[in-house]
Amino acid sequence: MLVKNAKDILMKAKSGNFVIPSFNFIDLDSARVFCRTAEKHNFPLILAFAEVHKNLIALEEAALVGKFLAEECKAPVILHLDHGTETEYCVRAMELGFTSVMIDASMNDFEGNVRTTREVVEAARAYGVQVEAEIGHVGSNVTESDSSLYTEPEEAARFVSESGCDSLAVSIGTSHGVYKTGTPKLNFDVLHGIARTIPDTPLVLHGGSGSGDDNLARCSREGITKINICTDCYVAALKAVKDPALTDYFDAKAASDKAVQEVAEHYYKVFGTKPID
Ligand code: 13P
Ligand code: ZN
Repeated sequence: MLVKNAKDILMKAKSGNFVIPSFNFIDLDSARVFCRTAEKHNFPLILAFAEVHKNLIALEEAALVGKFLAEECKAPVILHLDHGTETEYCVRAMELGFTSVMIDASMNDFEGNVRTTREVVEAARAYGVQVEAEIGHVGSNVTESDSSLYTEPEEAARFVSESGCDSLAVSIGTSHGVYKTGTPKLNFDVLHGIARTIPDTPLVLHGGSGSGDDNLARCSREGITKINICTDCYVAALKAVKDPALTDYFDAKAASDKAVQEVAEHYYKVFGTKPID
């Protein structure tokens, strides 16, 4: 079922000390695989469409596909806009039926980030939509994680109180995409500090792919409530379709779906996700 109150579900995961995965769908097939996997285990799912993928599937198409599959699914599904870059785009997603949005103004300075996030939060109240924001910055395809971009606990607390965001993406050493230098070292002291300072705000980890199962399992036990996974799904799909034994396009699509499902099931296990009543 499509979950309207995303915060409620995130708070249940937070108090149960487990993570709800957010998987990025890029087409009908991947969205369907994530929903069916969630349904198979009765696990909650955050079905995420990232603005950066709008050339693959438009927001309007993503809303139709996402809403249809979420409503049909027997497990709880939050339909989430990932890395929205502008207020107007986030509002459009809410109009179209997304039940959660992320505004990523983390490239701005603190005041600019608060201002843009606040604007989205105010708009979201009318739709009953929950808003995720980011403080600190999670980069892409970095070679070394830059500790100057880590989230400062005190700044996180001020940001949540001034912006009114419902959940917060934090930077503790992960990065988007493939790591060029192997499994990253995460700063759990920073995570503990943030979790202590804002105990009522669900914390989100971006750039989950390739971050190491032990690291991610520890994150889920020690303060993170939502982990975003994208790259690993499509790396696995590509590997599957490269099988030289495949000669039929339909078989290739089925192999790709199976690979994506295996990644999703793997992360549900690593995150210790549990059914939510
Ligand atoms: P990865 O592609 O590194 O898993 O990151 C996913 C993500 O953070 C989507 O917002
Ligand atoms: Zn991300």
